[in-house]
Amino acid sequence: MASFVDTCVEDLKKQVGDAKVVLGLSGGIDSTVAAVLLHKAIGKNLHCIFVDNGLLRMGERQEVIGFLEEHFDLNVKVVDAADEFLGKLHGVEDPEQKRKIIGYTFIDVFDREAKAIEGVEFLGQGTLYPDVIESESFKGPSAVIKSHHNVGGLPEKMNLKLVEPLRELFKDEVRRAAYELGMPDHIIWRHPFPGPGLSIRVIGEITEERLEILRLADRIVQNELLASDWYRKVWQGFAVLLPLKTVGVMGDDRTYEHVIALRVVDSIDAMTADWSRLPSELLARISNRIINEVKGVNRVVLDISSKPPSTIEWE
Ligand code: XMP
Repeated sequence: MASFVDTCVEDLKKQVGDAKVVLGLSGGIDSTVAAVLLHKAIGKNLHCIFVDNGLLRMGERQEVIGFLEEHFDLNVKVVDAADEFLGKLHGVEDPEQKRKIIGYTFIDVFDREAKAIEGVEFLGQGTLYPDVIESESFKGPSAVIKSHHNVGGLPEKMNLKLVEPLRELFKDEVRRAAYELGMPDHIIWRHPFPGPGLSIRVIGEITEERLEILRLADRIVQNELLASDWYRKVWQGFAVLLPLKTVGVMGDDRTYEHVIALRVVDSIDAMTADWSRLPSELLARISNRIINEVKGVNRVVLDISSKPPSTIEWE
């Protein structure tokens, strides 16, 4: 029996022929698998664009691009748009405003880059089956809780035909396809990362300094979850930088510094979630490391809220 990958590649060859496809890589598993499938089908006619919005986690850009170029010989254009995004986000504190600015800036940047490639006919997307259902029948009250579909306007704006290799798959099937494609565990089991990136985890105003504090703290969270084998057991785990300072003590001196919240949840589809019962030794290690290693942080708190009524992200 033909494998999913073989069947999918044959279908894509038929659908796209020798036309050019442009696809936005986010670093997540969906766009990565979609890109590799398309690359198998049409090779160099696939043009990937990775937009660095300045809101990525530490090392993310190198990790994603390096891996794809090395193992799959993908044609990836990296666009450094950090200044454009951060400039537009200057002074913005409202979460929905942040999402909107990031959404339309992404569309602008992507459209500009795609137009620079001559003769593109298709826009490739890593849309999954639940997204298809959601956008077809999605009119309930949850639509206004958070505007998750940050790049929803992209296909309309670009006036390209769509090619969506994953539109009949659920997340676990995408993971299986990734496995079949020989992708390593750190890609297959990567936690979801929101389109607006760290902007919705720096609560309040986004500055380079605050982003850097969050990146350092978050790297410790990621490393400790991986080292303790908890990374695969939880749905998502990350650090959040709060918009307040609190008093602490260091030697004989009083400190007045930032607070980091630790958010780690169990979930099966992100619609509901519960806080993960991590061992107290692991929590202690994460907290000690953040406070000792990240300059400017003197307190770590644990988020023990479930969804609903809370959400997974803080903004
Ligand atoms: P919430 O915070 O609504 O998150 O419980 C549910 C899942 O969605 C992710 N998330 C986003 N993803 N753009 C995205 O692409 C967004 O604006 C966004 N907000 C939340 C979140 O990380 C979780 O996996």
